[in-house]
Amino acid sequence: MAIHKFYVKDIPDTKCIWPYINEHSDIGRHYSMPVTLADPNNLINLKHELDINSLIMSSTEMIDKYGFNPWQAADNDMQSYGGLSLVYNPDYVDDVDSNKQTLGTKTNNSNEFFYGKTGKFKSTRNTYFDSYAFRKLAPCVTETSFNDIAKSFKRHILRSRLATVNAEYVSNNDRHNFGWHRDESVFENLRINIPIITDETFMFEIKDKPAEHLGIGNVYSWDTNIAHRVFPTIQEPRSRTHLVLGFSPWFDYDIEEDCFYSNEFYGEMHPIDMLISGHVHEKIKGIKL
Ligand SMILES: [Fe+2]
Repeated sequence: MAIHKFYVKDIPDTKCIWPYINEHSDIGRHYSMPVTLADPNNLINLKHELDINSLIMSSTEMIDKYGFNPWQAADNDMQSYGGLSLVYNPDYVDDVDSNKQTLGTKTNNSNEFFYGKTGKFKSTRNTYFDSYAFRKLAPCVTETSFNDIAKSFKRHILRSRLATVNAEYVSNNDRHNFGWHRDESVFENLRINIPIITDETFMFEIKDKPAEHLGIGNVYSWDTNIAHRVFPTIQEPRSRTHLVLGFSPWFDYDIEEDCFYSNEFYGEMHPIDMLISGHVHEKIKGIKL
């Protein structure tokens, strides 16, 4: 039986879903739980038996059908970064296409996404920052063959995207600072990263670690709450697209009742250990050495 159950309709509209869950559960006391199976301060290359070709084909189908959407920002939409949002919030505050909702917000400037800069919002509920509100699969998923792939995961998909970097729009000057950001804690949103289209000119970097190339065929994760980035090493018309899939590790979602309820891993197993143990996808289990 779930220890905690949160109906979205019961959460006051001045609060985002995740902070509300934090305030109305004992989840915070579990944040010091150690990871036992890997060091998430470093890139983790996961062992898997996923059919990467079918992931590539389904992702290509989504792009062909729904196109590339630039990252939305107040100053200017970015051509250098964007893609498709794989989830949406049916109660989203602005009139934004369901396939674009997790691609920035017109309220923030392009330099205000580093770590949820929310100062410009009176209330962040149902905005870009309300990660658990992005709880429904977007049409680009449900109307393509990616739907079956999304359904094959054991945990509920939250803020997720097909993320494209367009190297031709990143100038030689901008390259050194391009793309740095932090995402949610892994207790909130556990992310995996799967290269779909890339080449060796695209690099990935975790703060204070050497940059490296993320290659096709691999499935990666790390502590995405640590500053990290992707950047091109040359300014040329070429692009890099990765699947960035986020999951709610300790809360499952009941679509009928529109509620999140704690699962058997809540307070018991670190989200990264869940991932490595096959509890996010049965075909992702173990670490490549
Ligand atoms: Fe990230």
